[in-house]
Amino acid sequence: MDFQISNRMRGMKPSVIREILKQMSDPELISFAGGNPAADSFPAKEIAQFSAEMLEQDPVGVLQYSVTEGVPAAREAVRKFANRHYSVVKANDDLILVSGSQQILDFVTKCLCNEGDVVAVENPAFLGAFLSFRCYGTKLVGVSMEEDGVNLEELEKVFAAEPKPRFFYCIPNFQNPTGRTMSEAKRKAVYALSVKYGVPVLEDDPYGELRIAGQAIAPIKSLDETGNVIYAASFSKIMCPGMRLAYCVCDKTLMKSLVIAKQGSDVHTNVWSQRICAELLTRMDMEAHIQEIRGIYREKAQWMMQLLDEKCPEIRYIRPEGGMFLWGTLPENVQMQDFVKRCLDKKLAVVPGNAFLVDENQPCQNFRMNFSTPTKQQIKMGVEIMAAVLREMQLQ
Ligand SMILES: Cc1ncc(COP(=O)(O)O)c(C=O)c1O
Repeated sequence: MDFQISNRMRGMKPSVIREILKQMSDPELISFAGGNPAADSFPAKEIAQFSAEMLEQDPVGVLQYSVTEGVPAAREAVRKFANRHYSVVKANDDLILVSGSQQILDFVTKCLCNEGDVVAVENPAFLGAFLSFRCYGTKLVGVSMEEDGVNLEELEKVFAAEPKPRFFYCIPNFQNPTGRTMSEAKRKAVYALSVKYGVPVLEDDPYGELRIAGQAIAPIKSLDETGNVIYAASFSKIMCPGMRLAYCVCDKTLMKSLVIAKQGSDVHTNVWSQRICAELLTRMDMEAHIQEIRGIYREKAQWMMQLLDEKCPEIRYIRPEGGMFLWGTLPENVQMQDFVKRCLDKKLAVVPGNAFLVDENQPCQNFRMNFSTPTKQQIKMGVEIMAAVLREMQLQ
């Protein structure tokens, strides 16, 4: 069959990271490439227990179809969780449980964008988001990043330009890929610009609970008095990604469209996952669990940074206050793609930084390293491989 692929999908490229991860079947490969949570952070014992109890006591409730917005008890548990530190769910807002926050990125674009519309994005940013936005034929306009978040002058220019962006996508906490955190002042300024120019903000916050240093900063959504901010958060990093469970908080008027988008896509989120999530939130000590994950990541991040300082002083990197990634910068005389390829030849996978740029062909000296998945031993071996590659390249 000679399939005629739609204009929308023709020319779309698979995620670079998913392609690298395909090589993970090689048992010798050390991966700093993915963004998987540490396997020892999964509440596997509790999930097994709660699952067995639910299936025993209420099999039909767990296995039957359910409502699109989410199982009421799970929605209520998530609403309380979302609001426990800051007022995230406002009086005019609604909350929906979705199949991973990737789905929110998809639905928000589906609901707000027509083909050819502009979406403003932090640049670099999460490439899975770019994929979702581009699937609807949008044009991405990148706004560069500074130490404390997006460049506000550039952002204002992009908001003021014609055509106006349909929304602005940002990851204020421990951004993927750079690990940067948007300052409180910038969050306020981004919200003010959103109101001034009438451009909604899509605040993607899958890593917010994974703070390993510094002081917590309120999400942009907590400042929102006008319904401008669409907030997305996920349980992938604090429960487990296989559950595919996340939530979106936004103004009720937009939520009506999101619910219809979901009905046309997967009807509702997996009921078993929602019910397990509710049990975990109400019966497990989530705060202690989150502290434990933070402890694991703090130790691994510090270990990776210490080894980089010792063995690869040429690589500069941003010290993240949380999340899962280090963003490395290579010296000018080291060609980044060549470095990444040589690392892979020696069985270390890292992600070339240009994969996270709106324009992948821009010059780029960066690469992304993940510290949550590899063991401490693998982190050491991986950094040693990078040191050997750097020696090899600088000697030539
Ligand atoms: C910034 C960002 N947003 C969203 C996602 C999607 O997460 P999930 O669909 O597992 O909730 C990821 C995944 O790593 C991410 O890094």
